[in-house]
Amino acid sequence: MASAGAGTTPLPPKVASLGLRERLDALRNFHTGAALLRDHGGPVVRVPIGPRGLTPQFVIVTSPAGAHDVLAGFDGALDKGVRVHEETKHLGLNIFNLPHEAWKPRRRALQPLFTKRHVREFAVHMSTEAQVAAERAIDAGRVELDPFTRRLTLQVLGRSVLGQDLGARAEAMAGDFATLLEYFTDRGTSPVRVPARLPTPGNRRFARARERFFAVIDDAVDQCRRDPDHPAELIRLLLDARDPETGQALTDEDIRGELSAFLIAGHDTTATTLCYSLWALGRDPSLQDRVAAEATALGQRRLDAGDVSSLELTTRVIHESLRLCPPAAAVGRLAVRDVTVDGWRVPAGTNVIVGIMALHTDPVLWSDPERFDPDRFLPEFSHTRDRWQYLPFGAGPRSCIGDHFAMLEATLGLATIVRAVRIESLEARFPLAVPFTMTASGPIPAMVTARS
Ligand code: HEM
Repeated sequence: MASAGAGTTPLPPKVASLGLRERLDALRNFHTGAALLRDHGGPVVRVPIGPRGLTPQFVIVTSPAGAHDVLAGFDGALDKGVRVHEETKHLGLNIFNLPHEAWKPRRRALQPLFTKRHVREFAVHMSTEAQVAAERAIDAGRVELDPFTRRLTLQVLGRSVLGQDLGARAEAMAGDFATLLEYFTDRGTSPVRVPARLPTPGNRRFARARERFFAVIDDAVDQCRRDPDHPAELIRLLLDARDPETGQALTDEDIRGELSAFLIAGHDTTATTLCYSLWALGRDPSLQDRVAAEATALGQRRLDAGDVSSLELTTRVIHESLRLCPPAAAVGRLAVRDVTVDGWRVPAGTNVIVGIMALHTDPVLWSDPERFDPDRFLPEFSHTRDRWQYLPFGAGPRSCIGDHFAMLEATLGLATIVRAVRIESLEARFPLAVPFTMTASGPIPAMVTARS
């Protein structure tokens, strides 16, 4: 990334031949909208939605070079702070939305819990809960894959980092998650926002959902405070964290804000990855049998982190699911000063959005991009790929802290489930929506039978 001298570098082209309504729709539905905006202006495109000063300014970036310029490194020019990040502050300040300087000590304090080495300790929850889920699915015979995988990932996240059994609350929490996240995205992509303090029906619905959500978190923190042996590693780390300069502990509000980020960032995302993978295998019985055979070759014992190197096809299925269905379909940064992105000058104050889904499905970058083909991720095909065209976990300093956790959970979960059951997807399509992260927008039904 390079800081741009005003006037020396041209501004990106404005999106052409789309009306205001279409531009707003494309911004709100950014999973498909980013590619549409690229088609109407190029890989770095300005999307005006009203007068500068009165409405936010957006630039959408969909080239690998542009993604690099926005995300790699940090020189203070592009930071967190786009409208959607600001909206998430209604749940508190946290590792996801804090600007760089305030974020650094938090990331440093929490990173040890999420190293590749440390997350191996959570494998036991990942495999055990997946086996329980598979058995429940056999009993049911037919499952809706979206709630099925959400329940599983909430359970794994709860047990691993919060020391809580959240599985039983999954259904009750799902509605509140949806309310909170849609509120952030709707407000983050609208030209105007109703002040959050006004008692509108939307604001009141949000406040009620937040109250219930915080009650779950406060309960987990209370339990951890009362019991020094409580297995809530993340909460314990937050309780013990000290500001490196002032030596001060985090406030209860800080801890609540932080735990909100982990529940939101870690739950839906991995659930959707597993959901999409199961659906894709449910559409391709022979691929599914190969994945099942890979896991069966390891025996019927509980799978562990050490097995991942033998689950090579399973891992490629997950990579391909993350390509076609990246739960973070776009990520954003605020231009704090003028910057150059892929040769264009982006003025200070602009919301810069990197279209990850658009990069993952660009026909210029991928052959037959809509086809589900895990072999794309064979080493012989991977080494020619630009590192910046495949970014499911983001990149640079603010990339996903939970990437090892998520990959381990998805790999062990998928292998465990497919070893136990045969899945038949009943729908040919996987409809998508972006309440915040990208999720299934409708039911994903499947028939499930025991594999004997
Ligand atoms: C398949 C699953 C997942 C995907 C695709 C995913 C994707 C991402 C992406 C793209 C970012 C960067 C956002 C940005 O640049 O603005 C991110 C950040 C983050 N993710 Fe994940 N994530 C996943 C799972 C998880 C899990 C399991 C956790 C925690 C247990 C987690 C916690 C976080 C946090 C805390 C951040 C903010 C990091 C920071 O700014 O330092 N994620 N994630």
